[in-house]
Amino acid sequence: MKKVRVFAPASIANMGCGFDVIGLALDEVGDVLEITMSEGDGLTINNVSGVPMPEDINGNVITPVVRSFLQKIGQKAQIDVTICEKIYPGSGIGSSAASSAAAAYGMNELFGCPLSDEEVVMCAMEGENLASGGYHADNAAPALLGGIVLIRGYEPLDIIQLPVPGNFYCSVVHPHICVSTKEAREILPKSVPMHNAVRQWGNVGGLIAGLYSGNIGLIGRSMKDVVAEPYRKSFIPGFDELREKILEAGALAMNISGSGPSTFALCDHRDKAERAGKIMQSHFDALGIDCEVYVVKVSNKGTKLTGVTI
Ligand code: HSE
Repeated sequence: MKKVRVFAPASIANMGCGFDVIGLALDEVGDVLEITMSEGDGLTINNVSGVPMPEDINGNVITPVVRSFLQKIGQKAQIDVTICEKIYPGSGIGSSAASSAAAAYGMNELFGCPLSDEEVVMCAMEGENLASGGYHADNAAPALLGGIVLIRGYEPLDIIQLPVPGNFYCSVVHPHICVSTKEAREILPKSVPMHNAVRQWGNVGGLIAGLYSGNIGLIGRSMKDVVAEPYRKSFIPGFDELREKILEAGALAMNISGSGPSTFALCDHRDKAERAGKIMQSHFDALGIDCEVYVVKVSNKGTKLTGVTI
């Protein structure tokens, strides 16, 4: 029998312009799983986090991750998972990706690291597919690897870690509005007009150039999304007015976090992020919508082991 305890961080997908291809990892907030491997062939998931999770393990993102890992390495084992800490599902900071990343990473560690980083990300994407109906890695890859990550291509998976210049902080607001990732993906049109595609890839290029050169202004003005945001912002009351206030308060950019309805402001200083957080809180208070606000540093740390028992 062998047991690992794994932490996987929260993450923000898209970073504005990078729909399905760019994401960043956050500090400290995340999921903690304990995974035990022993002789046999089966899977149990026990949730002690206090956050409600599906009773049926087939509805839990951990299940397809564990199954695809075992299938990839061609082995059988009894796997018992305990969910010790859990990001609230739907909070828009990569809750399903954190569980998926922790499960994929923990399994790889338990079996002596037979899979490459890319293969571990592919296992984690099985969990994302269950949660959202799509194979995307822009939460799972930064959650696993840390920092800001570009998925240059999916076939084959080509993951590039980007520099994180300076001290970036995100204010993330999670308004209590129910929008599933599936729903937020289904409302998107299947094709993008050429003029919008041109704007979007210009911005993606600008964001990457800004991250490499440390040009904060370029990063901020490149974080504009003309592909998904125009459709998704209708779920978030007062989105445009909120962004105006946030940018006036000194944030570099404000965008929908992943598929929403959470929204984040990227700031180059903790004070500015705290100010942005207060503005977000009062925006939703004034609308009578409950919300939580987190102010979190962008982190270079990804998923890690926090304990091993043999
Ligand atoms: N890139 C995905 C989307 C992230 O925007 O649908 C989901 O969190």
